Amino acid sequence: MGARARQRLVVVSNRLPFVFKRGKGGRWRIERGSGGLVSALLPVLRNRGGSWIGWPGAAETGPDLERAVTAAGAEAGFALKPVTLDARAVHEFYQGFSNEIIWPLFHGLASLCNFEPSYWSTYKEVNRKFAQVVMEDSAASDFIWVHDYHLMGVAAELRGLGCRAKAGFFLHIPFPPPDVFFILPWRLTLLHSLLQYDLLGFQTMRDRRNFIQCLRELVTDVTVQGKGQVVTVATDHRTVRVGGFPISIDYNAFMRQAATDDVARRAQELHRLLPRRKLVLGVDRLDYTKGIPHRLQAFRAALERYPDLRERMSLIQVVVPSREDIPQYHQLKTRIDQLVGQINSSYVRPGGWVPVWYVYDSLSRNDLLAYYRAADIALITPLRDGMNLVAKEYCACSIEEECVLILSEFAGAAAQLQNGALLVNPHDIEGVADTLHRAFTMSDEERRARMRRMRRSIRESDIFWWVDSFLRAAIAKDLSAFPQPESHVIEAVPDYVPI
Ligand code: UDP
Ligand code: G6P
Repeated sequence: MGARARQRLVVVSNRLPFVFKRGKGGRWRIERGSGGLVSALLPVLRNRGGSWIGWPGAAETGPDLERAVTAAGAEAGFALKPVTLDARAVHEFYQGFSNEIIWPLFHGLASLCNFEPSYWSTYKEVNRKFAQVVMEDSAASDFIWVHDYHLMGVAAELRGLGCRAKAGFFLHIPFPPPDVFFILPWRLTLLHSLLQYDLLGFQTMRDRRNFIQCLRELVTDVTVQGKGQVVTVATDHRTVRVGGFPISIDYNAFMRQAATDDVARRAQELHRLLPRRKLVLGVDRLDYTKGIPHRLQAFRAALERYPDLRERMSLIQVVVPSREDIPQYHQLKTRIDQLVGQINSSYVRPGGWVPVWYVYDSLSRNDLLAYYRAADIALITPLRDGMNLVAKEYCACSIEEECVLILSEFAGAAAQLQNGALLVNPHDIEGVADTLHRAFTMSDEERRARMRRMRRSIRESDIFWWVDSFLRAAIAKDLSAFPQPESHVIEAVPDYVPI
């Protein structure tokens, strides 16, 4: 990497990697944040150093919290800078605009959106607040890297405050096609705000294409130059670079930790508790985009259609609590509880086989890795997902290369992993059931060949490859150095958006 690529990195995201909660006696308790953004960026900051600006997760402000955050940063090995939010901002900016408008809309679920006008003004206000903290905490020579849908307006606010530092943006979730994006009442302002970044990164080439199509239909005189992984888009007012950068994981760290004695012991313990059967694994945050009820129905259908699977296969479904204050997440939890209860009560044998082993909790890293190692099949079936890092982590931890990945064609990871995964349409309950049976009966040879191909691809394009390619795209003089990597060119996913 060139010297300029080593400029100080200022990462800005809604969430800091740690969540601060008041414990007994008013002391701060610190937990690792859940979700793909934190998992992906934490090793990057540990590796490169720099500064991470974000919300500590408490609906509280004040010097006490700021001190606790700074101290946690000193321990983590990079600077942590809090942006505190009061209860109204948490409600209108985080739960409201971010998670009741952009999250469902960008995942193609417009019917779940609550287009409350006050959410938009608070979104802009909080984006301005983030920009002010970035101004205080950065120099013109830094590279400012803003992440995800909560902060699409930060560059526009930064430019308004006179900031001239280079700023990039990466969207961790899908970008929808025009038919869906146009539903957003503030669509034009939002597009113009995004154009204030110097580099815009999307998970897949399809997300990038959707973004450029929206620009073409809403903004006049758009020209696109180049054909590779990164292109230049010029409009009347601004010229920006736009690329597809499939996010990844710290492959070697997962592989090494999965091989430790402690993880192996925990995996054996799972096999002891669930003996003489193949284990199928689902791991998701509690989220309606993850397709958990569809998956449970498909698992039930597999047991109905294929009696040979009964007593010889169990589903371990881990659900990590998330966004619990939003009503739709509550409703989803109730639906999952009901389905698990129904399946187990129809099939359970006293003292014997339990079809669904359901865990509603946030796991320690070693426990998560033990589930990955113990599972013969991963069933990862989101209705729509930006990437889905669980799929990549599962492959990295499959050190014997004997496991099967069943993956939704609507996960961003499908474009990269289609040469090894069994791709399914999560809405096709019987199709998923048939694929489960196919995975169950797949030969050792086929399983190994498929897993080996996926692991190679993830190893070659790990999280450090991702950071390097994004930062190089921001500073490179010549974009011809960015041909599309072959494994990501192929667009397996049909142009279908479930609404
Ligand atoms: N994960 C976690 N806590 C858990 C289980 C999983 O933080 O108890 C992590 C998991 O390792 C993965 C991330 O959560 O890195 C989920 O990322 P993914 O891209 O699959 O989905 P997201 O939650 O970001 O929508
Ligand atoms: C997804 C989003 C992240 C978010 C994470 C957890 O991965 O892309 O931006 O941090 O979910 O959600 P939460 O609402 O708890 O931050």
